[in-house]
Amino acid sequence: MPDVTYDYAGRVVAVTGAAIGIGKAAAAAFAAAGADVYLFDIDETPGSQSAAGVGTFMRCDVTSTDDIDRALGTIAESHGRLDVLVNNAGGFGVQRTTAEVHVDEWHRLLQLNLTSVFLMSQRALPLLRNAEAGRIINLGSLAGQVSSYKASPPYSAAKAGVHALTRVLASEVAGDGITVNAIAPSAVLTERIVQLRDESERAATARSIPVGRYQSPEEVAAWVLFLASREAGFATGQTIAVNGGRHMSQ
Ligand SMILES: NC(=O)c1ccc[n+]([C@@H]2O[C@H](COP(=O)([O-])OP(=O)(O)OC[C@H]3O[C@@H](n4cnc5c(N)ncnc54)[C@H](O)[C@@H]3O)[C@@H](O)[C@H]2O)c1
Repeated sequence: MPDVTYDYAGRVVAVTGAAIGIGKAAAAAFAAAGADVYLFDIDETPGSQSAAGVGTFMRCDVTSTDDIDRALGTIAESHGRLDVLVNNAGGFGVQRTTAEVHVDEWHRLLQLNLTSVFLMSQRALPLLRNAEAGRIINLGSLAGQVSSYKASPPYSAAKAGVHALTRVLASEVAGDGITVNAIAPSAVLTERIVQLRDESERAATARSIPVGRYQSPEEVAAWVLFLASREAGFATGQTIAVNGGRHMSQ
């Protein structure tokens, strides 16, 4: 964990996709800083395990308005407000060219990575408006910024959409004291990446990154906590590139 410490005591935080990976690390970091943390995910077993000693797990598919309304309804009943929403749930597809992408895969990845951010944010706004300093942090990606970065077309398009939605929403809610920012990471060494890429593939990726290594989920979580802090209140509508210099090397 970084040396910077924050006091999130009394603040209510919801993190989507918090069962594993970046979301899990962010939820743990908020809890360590004293927040009341809600972990939303579709995967109940790792979700409940990650919530142990951290916060409250809620089964919530971020593409389902019913699930979102139920999960946010529980927070509304308990707290009447939400201080921080972290739209982290998402996932990349198989690397294919545009010609190879099936339309069903296109819709699925847009739904998971972009529509989810729209739905969660739209439905959380009334609760965020009740907070003293509401914050939305979206997980974008280098894949949404750099065209030569090898990701799937729907994933890249969805993440570019997340960056755009971040700006639009930020301008709409700035007057309510709510900031909306995104983080665009690249090559985060999560459990899933360890599963998907063998050691030699991971070493090759690390060599292709100017700083020479993957970043940890905890490093991304540190940016999430900074952007959600009161101290970051003058930054809004930004996408912060945290990619080890990879935007220069692709
Ligand atoms: N890992 C990276 O290198 C990397 C790089 C750039 C951006 N990102 C972005 O960061 C975010 C987190 O990435 P990660 O690598 O930690 O992901 P991950 O695959 O490790 O974890 C994603 C979590 O989201 C959950 N999830 C999936 N679909 C869901 C749904 N419909 N509703 C609710 N939860 C759902 C999964 O169960 C899982 O717990 C994603 O938006 C991803 O696109 C990751």
